[in-house]
Amino acid sequence: MRLRLGVLISGRGSNLQALIDAARDPDFPAEVAIVISNKPDAPGMERARAAGIATEVIRPKDYADKPAHEAAVTAALAEAGVGLVCLAGYMRLLSPFFVDCWYDRLINIHPSLLPAFPGLETHARAIEAGVRFHGCTVHYVRVEMDTGPIIVQAAVPVADDDTPDCLAARVLEQEHRAYPLAVRLIAEGRVTVEGNRVAVRGAGLADAVIGPLA
Ligand code: GAR
Repeated sequence: MRLRLGVLISGRGSNLQALIDAARDPDFPAEVAIVISNKPDAPGMERARAAGIATEVIRPKDYADKPAHEAAVTAALAEAGVGLVCLAGYMRLLSPFFVDCWYDRLINIHPSLLPAFPGLETHARAIEAGVRFHGCTVHYVRVEMDTGPIIVQAAVPVADDDTPDCLAARVLEQEHRAYPLAVRLIAEGRVTVEGNRVAVRGAGLADAVIGPLA
């Protein structure tokens, strides 16, 4: 049986789309079981509906507090038989309760080479810092924002005349490769978390790296 994914979104949903597209291949070892948004008008919800995937809008303002909202999200994920939760542009900070509940079954994609540039405006900050390589990271989620064992990274060279928008577009292309790759490695049972590091079994370096080495 394929690993059942619960994807949490807040907006555009292009990373969700990359997972949906990857799962169209019957050999891909995971499938999107449910998509949950905290925002009713998230464009990504239409992508899920178009693919015939179950959707739920779970709005924080409909709940008394954050624990109650997160309990509703957890219940919906459990009901859908989800084995791995994928944050894909889900712009809410998660409480220790939620992170504990899904410990090592909760991953995120972030648009920088962590631990550089956690938080927002990553592309502008990378240009400002003058780094030669930028990129994206898929990592297990821990309580502190944008931390946790790194599963896959993709590196993107920064050009001298890059703007935040054009750099973001090139990083996004790599996000759409990195997220399905990380999910595949996990679903194939090849990923082990050892402290703050991830080991990928049966893999050469190239299996978890996209970019100059791959
Ligand atoms: C992506 O670039 C993702 O890496 C970023 O939001 C975008 C969502 O795009 N996530 C974060 O910044 C989380 N810290 P999408 O909705 O098209 O997938």
